[in-house]
Amino acid sequence: MDPIPSNCPALISDTVQAAKHCCDFSIRDCVQCYRCSCIDRPLPMNDQGFGLVCFTLSGFSHGSDTKSSHSLKQHKQLMKIAILSRNPRLYSTRRLVEAAQSRGHEVVVLDVLRCYMNVTANRPEVHYNGKEITGVDAVIPRIGASVTFYGTAVLRQFEMMGTFPLNESVAISRSRDKLRSLQLMSRKGVDMPVTGFAHKPGDTKDLLKMVGGTPVVIKLLEGTQGIGVVLAETPKAAESVVEAFMGLKANILIQEFIKEAGGADIRCFVVGDKVVAAMKRQGAEGEFRSNLHRGGSATLTKLSAKERATAIKAAKTMGLNVAGVDLLRSARGPVVMEVNSSPGLEGIETATSLDIASMQIEFIEKHLEKNVNRSTLTKTRGKG
Ligand SMILES: Nc1ncnc2c1ncn2[C@@H]1O[C@H](COP(=O)(O)OP(=O)(O)OP(=O)(O)O)[C@@H](O)[C@H]1O
Ligand SMILES: [Mg+2]
Repeated sequence: MDPIPSNCPALISDTVQAAKHCCDFSIRDCVQCYRCSCIDRPLPMNDQGFGLVCFTLSGFSHGSDTKSSHSLKQHKQLMKIAILSRNPRLYSTRRLVEAAQSRGHEVVVLDVLRCYMNVTANRPEVHYNGKEITGVDAVIPRIGASVTFYGTAVLRQFEMMGTFPLNESVAISRSRDKLRSLQLMSRKGVDMPVTGFAHKPGDTKDLLKMVGGTPVVIKLLEGTQGIGVVLAETPKAAESVVEAFMGLKANILIQEFIKEAGGADIRCFVVGDKVVAAMKRQGAEGEFRSNLHRGGSATLTKLSAKERATAIKAAKTMGLNVAGVDLLRSARGPVVMEVNSSPGLEGIETATSLDIASMQIEFIEKHLEKNVNRSTLTKTRGKG
């Protein structure tokens, strides 16, 4: 590679035109422009709202600069990546932006609720702030549970346009439906706590017997962060909780209580067909729920081969490329509690000091490289 010209205008100017001029290559294919990464701030946006090439190496944490620049040289095909997220300031979104930019890619954060779509036959379009979004190579969906319906519709539209989604819309929809997820995993023989589901049971006692009797964990289907997860130790307590939830017309799950998990669960972070990181979350003293929001704490843990295989199988069953698989260590081996399609990065990167954001970008790079003709980019291309 040629040395950076000492008079490189990119060193003294922050316009993309100047950087283009300095080496006479298109900015997207130009490794030399990457060498101008002494610029430690994003270059200005183009008229579609994309920062053309953004360099933020100085702000990059976890010491992966060397790895990134090495990888970039191997991947001259720089990408345009859209992150669907409601808030660019969220830790996970910021880290994905940093990781993509540090590898030389263009990246934009789109508020999924502000995307609007043209669903005319054969010419799907996504618009944002009065402009059509074109030329996006990959989309990273960070779709919160409360916007699943609209968020997956926007993602599906990108899929129809031939854009590679880090996770497909259909897989996200599956994972958001707890009952459907458990049914899919049961079909594939993924072990999980014995689980009963009922809308309006005629016989609560039989329902409890079905899952092996008390103690049981009763969960609101729509619950999150441990809210709506109750441990019922006696049949009387269980019946009262079931009746109370039913009275509120809430859908509930009743699960075998995995006592030997000792108030801890294991978050396995899956990227592609590997568990790239894992942490153990331990509930506060006297608490069976390990949620960090409930005062739990996270530490590093080493996974057994069976735990790894179970996490990978669970993510695959959902069709997710990136997943946070929550396991409980039961006496009969690992059991899957849940598969999360937008796993947060803060807890796991802090606990493991790993650069998981870059691993996701690397997965996209590899996937796009393998599928140059783009015809096999998504399994469904919006079908689903
Ligand atoms: N069957 C079970 N046996 C033992 N402990 C359980 C069981 N189910 C849940 N727990 C504990 O309770 C915590 C919260 O349960 P769960 O993850 O199902 O609900 P949530 O965290 O509210 O939902 P979400 O993970 O979708 O945000 C788990 O992390 C785990 O520590
Ligand atoms: Mg949970």
